[in-house]
Formats: sequence, C-alpha cells, structure tokens
Amino acid sequence: MNVAEKLIKEGKLSREEYKELLACAERPDIRQLLAEEATALRQKYYGNKIYTRGLIEFTNYCKNNCYYCGIRRDNRNVKRYRLTKEEILSCCENGYELGYRTFVLQGGEDPYYSDEKMAEIIREIRKGYPDCAITLSIGEKSYESYKLLREAGANRYLLRHETANEQHYGMLHPASMSLTVRKQCLYDLKSLGYQVGAGFMVGSPGQKLEHLAEDLEFLEELQPHMVGIGPFIPHHDTQFAAEPAGSVDMTIFLLSVIRILLPKVLLPATTALGTVDPRGREKGILAGANVVMPNLSPVLHRKQYELYDNKICTGEESAECRQCLARRVESVGCCLVSERGDAK
Ligand code: SAM
Ligand code: FES
Repeated sequence: MNVAEKLIKEGKLSREEYKELLACAERPDIRQLLAEEATALRQKYYGNKIYTRGLIEFTNYCKNNCYYCGIRRDNRNVKRYRLTKEEILSCCENGYELGYRTFVLQGGEDPYYSDEKMAEIIREIRKGYPDCAITLSIGEKSYESYKLLREAGANRYLLRHETANEQHYGMLHPASMSLTVRKQCLYDLKSLGYQVGAGFMVGSPGQKLEHLAEDLEFLEELQPHMVGIGPFIPHHDTQFAAEPAGSVDMTIFLLSVIRILLPKVLLPATTALGTVDPRGREKGILAGANVVMPNLSPVLHRKQYELYDNKICTGEESAECRQCLARRVESVGCCLVSERGDAK
C-alpha cells in the first residue's frame, strides 16, 4: 500500500508519510486518486452544493507587519480606508438580496474598531439578519475580546495559522508576532463555540515540504471546521516582491488531502487560487473544495485591499461576481447555494 492509499484508508498519516505523499504531488495517478476520493467525500456530506460567503473587507489599516502582506503597517503606498457601520450594513443589505446568508467581516488588525465598536456592528447585523451567519476575520485578540464578540452574535472566525513551523513562522513575521499566540487564539476561539477556520499559504517564501507536513499535522490536532488555503502571491511593495508565487498544482493537491483528512471540513476555493490560474477555483472544486467567497465590498475600495498583486474581482459589482461564480461552479457540475452552510 502506498502513502496515498494509506491516507484514504486511515484518514491520516505520520509527518514522515505526509512528506512522502507531498513529494508525489506532481504524479497524475496519485493526484487523480486523491481528487476522486476527496470529491466523493464532499458529495457524501454536502452533495453538489457549493456554499457562498459574502466577503466584506471593511478596513485596510493594520497594526501588524506580516512580511508577505500588501496592507501591512509599513507599506506607505497604500491608500487606507475604513467602512462605517452604515456602509458595512449596506454591504449586508446588498448581499442578502443577492442570496448571501453568511457575511465575512475581514480586515487588518485595526485598533480603531475597538471591541465595543465591533460588538455594536455585530449586534446590528445580527438584529437585521437573524438568519445569517456572521464570520469574523480580524486577527489576534484576547480570550475576553473573542468572548464579547461571540456574545454580540458572531458565529465563526477565520484565523489562518500561516505555518505550523516555529522557524518558518519567524521568517514570515516580525519578532513581535508568535506562532504560540496564534495557535492559542485558535484554541480560545474553539472553546468559545465559534466555528473556526485555520489555514496557510501554499508556497510562501522558505516553505519546505516538511513545513506543509507540519501544517497537516496541526490541522489534524486542531480539527477546525474550516480550512483556508491559497497560493502565496508576491506583492510589489513587500520584501518578498521577487519571490515566485505558490504552485496551483500543489494547492489543489493539498485541497484533496485536507478533504480526506477532515471529511466534513468547509473548504474554500480561494480568490488567490483564482488569481494565479483563471480556472483555479473550478480546479479547486474538482479537488474537493465546497465554498467560494465572493467580494461584497464597495467597488470603490476593492483595489485598496490589495494583499497581493493582480487580485481578481476588484472591478466588478457584487451582483456580477455572484453570477460569474454561479456559472463557474455549474461548469464543474456543482450548484451555488444560498444556505448558511454551517459546519456539520
Ligand atoms: N488580519 C486578519 C488576519 O491576520 O487573520 C485577516 C486579514 S489577512 C490579510 C488574511 C489572509 O490573507 C492572511 O491570513 C494570509 O494568509 C493572506 N495573505 C496575506 N498576504 C498574502 C499574499 N501575499 N499572498 C497570499 N495570501 C496572502
Ligand atoms: Fe495585517 Fe496583513 S499585515 S492584514
């Protein structure tokens, strides 16, 4: 039995075996075997449904300085913006009409939005849209802050761990940030009853197969409800400007592996994947992904939330984005749905 067959049979591997498996990521027979198993699992738990999350990028101010990120604090070339509560609510209104039942509030770590301000925004969305899920993606906070936001009505939280290897984490982030804190946040969020999303970039600078093996091991330990992975893409104003983007094939291979490792996981085919390959999101779905996250942010600000170069979908209205994605999803035999799509 080879390692791919072992993964399918046992649902997990040892770190060494993950490494061995990842070394085969270019082999068409293994890719196909894993993709078939991954889509069969997706079909078993979710049928051909692809869930949508309306992404509201509400601030591009950030106090952090992650080396790979286009909106990090020290990038002086970014025109900064913040959405008011009314603007955020108007994105939700537009999204609700278009059929979204999950709103993802994402932003840099922006102290302007104090816990109380965030809680107020969440309460208003909860009041106006009681049938919708509210997902936050606003970085690292204390247990008490997460608790307050949860009590205000937030249901889910996306916080990619970025890399589960301490040394590699140190290459991607300034010394003020730590993997231990990041992981603790994820455990805190879980214990507060959030549906939690971890994840990482594929092909980030300095990433080795053993780091990816550690990422998979960490996912196995954390058992998150959602996993966001997408290729690293260089941004021209960062120290990684000249680094190559992560591989589409490796990202797709990992999507299949993650679906097998966590069969019921909510797994997006990310915008980054659609940026490096025009059919990236369709390929992601064919590899086992079951979520897409189209943009609901005001078109005026979309280009300013530039995490990496050439980000797609920054010019279209939200309605166009949804229609475009519905067509893409149908082209691979699936169906874009309006349900909340909670974790099973
Ligand atoms: N501030 C929040 C946080 O840190 O979780 C959310 C916003 S942050 C920009 C969202 C994600 O964007 C990060 O977790 C990271 O994985 C991804 N990202 C940032 N820069 C990227 C790049 N150059 N290429 C691909 N993904 C990137
Ligand atoms: Fe904060 Fe990227 S450095 S969002």
